Amino acid sequence: MMIKEKQILQLIKLAAHAPSGHNTQPWRFSYDEGSITMRPDFMRALQVVDADNHAMFISLGCALENLLIAARQYGLEATYEITSESADPNIKVALREADEVAKSDLFDFILKRQVCRSVYLSEQLERNTLSTLIQLENEPGVSVKYFTKRADIETMIPYIVEGSTAQMQNRNFTNELVSWMRFNQKDALRAGDGIWFSSMGFPNVPRWLGKLIMLQLVSAKSEAKRWEKTIKQSAGLVLFMVEKNDIVHWIRIGQSFQRFGLTAALLNVCHAHVNMPCEEEAIRQRMAYELGFGDMTPLLLIRFGYADTMPYSFRRNLNEVIHSV
Ligand SMILES: Cc1cc2nc3c(=O)[nH]c(=O)nc-3n(C[C@H](O)[C@H](O)[C@H](O)COP(=O)(O)O)c2cc1C
Repeated sequence: MMIKEKQILQLIKLAAHAPSGHNTQPWRFSYDEGSITMRPDFMRALQVVDADNHAMFISLGCALENLLIAARQYGLEATYEITSESADPNIKVALREADEVAKSDLFDFILKRQVCRSVYLSEQLERNTLSTLIQLENEPGVSVKYFTKRADIETMIPYIVEGSTAQMQNRNFTNELVSWMRFNQKDALRAGDGIWFSSMGFPNVPRWLGKLIMLQLVSAKSEAKRWEKTIKQSAGLVLFMVEKNDIVHWIRIGQSFQRFGLTAALLNVCHAHVNMPCEEEAIRQRMAYELGFGDMTPLLLIRFGYADTMPYSFRRNLNEVIHSV
């Protein structure tokens, strides 16, 4: 049975509301009357912070999860196939109208979810809220570790500070970050991608001033201090890990992380990334060894807690993410 084009376009729009590293939105969609195919957009790769493209495929996994949740909402059964061992890696989602498809409470939070970069209230999560998050099911080969006791949270600070310092001292890293920063609403809206300064809690400024702030005033030392305070004010941290460091597992970790983000939004819990120790390979390996994670590779470190939401980031228009193959 043919699926209406309008519905397919709506599904793509909701998929593209997923989070992505630096809000690069590194995806390209194509479709026919019964399927949507998603491909990485290598033109949007982050060559410094994500040299192996793991964050790119995690972002695709987040978009896939949105798509699956949204399809069910529209009474469509969705099955997908990942092609990873090829020069053209892709995820093909086949859609079929079905009589009984279980809807998810998470659908309503696809547009409400955000990565909230403010400092959180130093308050523990309510017990039921925390256990709902901890009990979320993960995709095969993905596991999570929660840090919720003060002392446990603080064991992560040295790794975070070390990762942040390494990145802030790397000009290629800061230049790449700044190239994806949108320092005022006009630039953010025009681009439809990137990290809007306001979503980081800063006022709108001209691009030259934003660059000056990021490259001259923000230092490794000021960031280290900020991270220490920010982590201490979090209700907890959660580390997402994979048992195999490959494309399939990167997509799966993205799906698990997206369910976490949507569930957190449903529970009025904010979250944001503190990935630096996972992004710096030497630190990641040492952290995994010292904390006894065995062969698991930690790829996403997330802080969470209560806070007010921040201004939402933007997305590109549909015609920019849809390509005929
Ligand atoms: C794989 C991945 C890695 C990310 N890494 C970081 C990060 O290191 N620091 C950060 O502040 N945000 C990080 N983010 C969050 C994105 O910047 C955010 O999703 C994007 O700006 C869009 O904003 P939104 O999620 O609020 O819609 C990451 C997101 C993903 C999916």
